[in-house]
Amino acid sequence: MYLFIKSFGCQMNEHDSQKIASILEEEGYELTDDPEKADCIILNTCSVREKPERKVYSALGRLLPLKRKKPSLLIGVGGCVAQQVGEKLLKEAPHLDFVFGTHQIHKVGEMVRAARAGIRSLDVSMVDDVPSLHRFPTPAPGQVKAYVTIMQGCDNRCSYCIVPHVRGPERSRPPEEILQEVRQLAQAGIKEVTLLGQNVNSYGRNLPKPLTFPRLLEQLEEVEGIERIRFTTSHPKDLSVELMEAMGELKKVCEHLHLPVQSGSNRVLQAMNRGYTREEYLEKVEALRKMVPGVALTTDLIVGFPGETEEDFELTLDLLRQVRFDGMYSFKYSPRPFTSAYEMRDDVPQEVKAERLARAQALQDRITSEILEDCIGKVEEILVEGPSPRGEGQVTGRTRTNRIVHLKGEAGQLVGRMVKVRIEKSLRHSLWGERLEE
Ligand code: SAH
Ligand code: SF4
Ligand code: F3S
Repeated sequence: MYLFIKSFGCQMNEHDSQKIASILEEEGYELTDDPEKADCIILNTCSVREKPERKVYSALGRLLPLKRKKPSLLIGVGGCVAQQVGEKLLKEAPHLDFVFGTHQIHKVGEMVRAARAGIRSLDVSMVDDVPSLHRFPTPAPGQVKAYVTIMQGCDNRCSYCIVPHVRGPERSRPPEEILQEVRQLAQAGIKEVTLLGQNVNSYGRNLPKPLTFPRLLEQLEEVEGIERIRFTTSHPKDLSVELMEAMGELKKVCEHLHLPVQSGSNRVLQAMNRGYTREEYLEKVEALRKMVPGVALTTDLIVGFPGETEEDFELTLDLLRQVRFDGMYSFKYSPRPFTSAYEMRDDVPQEVKAERLARAQALQDRITSEILEDCIGKVEEILVEGPSPRGEGQVTGRTRTNRIVHLKGEAGQLVGRMVKVRIEKSLRHSLWGERLEE
């Protein structure tokens, strides 16, 4: 039996898809990337903006002919839209067999079995301790890096964001369990872990024995076999000096930080309820760059938040110029139900949002290519992750700063290895390197 899963969201969402796949493997399913071949199709959804939410409905619509052709096909919807919309999905899509919320991933096996017996099911209830938080998928052969969830949910109330509503309150996973998982991953050949949480900087606050995130990093540094540690996402307001020091001192913790700024205008930041000012953000960036030389920063940006003026937006552009991020994810503001900004008038016209987005992206593209060009001539250590999409006889990996590097080589020999390269050329969003003899 074949299983097709599509992820629509963030890294947490992708990791959940891996968990779903591993649960259904135990039920006898094997992954396929061809929906036509599948006996079970699962859409793991995202509701952070309206666009990914709408994509789910159109994807569901496209599955209708498949189901008509093959009535035994099972279709399920999980993730944040499932959590948000719940029962309405089952009502509106009669060809849908089951719906499970973000806290009910562990139920997917049971739901598939019920569906095979002709029973439709739904569970979007929320619980205090999410069972799937404690579960992790076995890495595939040849897999080099893995995600590790260290916390669930979010206790912040950024005024635009639906995540706290669909993911529930923040809960940290006990450090012993995280350590054990990372050790097992190392034994299975994993070289790099990315620790996941909506706001990893506040890790450990609500544990019976509180532990800070930097202290967790210190413990993970000791795990033999793991060569690189990354984490995401960091909230600027909770980025502590202690974490900056840990990043500077711990050898395995990579010199890259994703630090979503959202806006460069204090007025907008306040309306977003982000809990920091532009000045505080810039101060933290400066301190981080002192403590972690060469650190690469990436960010998220929202344009067209209610009330954002041209002047506010120019402050954002100015911040991009000042910080010089390596990369940026940028989005047009999208009003979401269950958020406080939903009550505000979405008063920036679509064309203005589109124009601001294009200007921010053009500026960032220029900065990104300048940064990549500056890498030429540098010697970097690359962890080779797999064959390069650029073609035969090439592999791809990343620098510690998370820049993608392609180089000549055979995947069979190099995947999972650290190699030294000299950067020869910059490409659009990546680099080309020549391997140095060791
Ligand atoms: N916990 C993370 C990720 C949140 S969602 C964090 O705090 O950064 C990922 C990104 O989606 C956010 O950083 C934000 O830039 C964007 N986003 C969230 N809600 C949005 C909305 N309503 N409209 C547009 N973009 C949004
Ligand atoms: Fe959303 Fe803010 Fe929580 Fe991130 S920190 S998930 S943006 S509420
Ligand atoms: Fe992630 Fe989207 Fe949910 S960003 S947490 S999948 S709403």
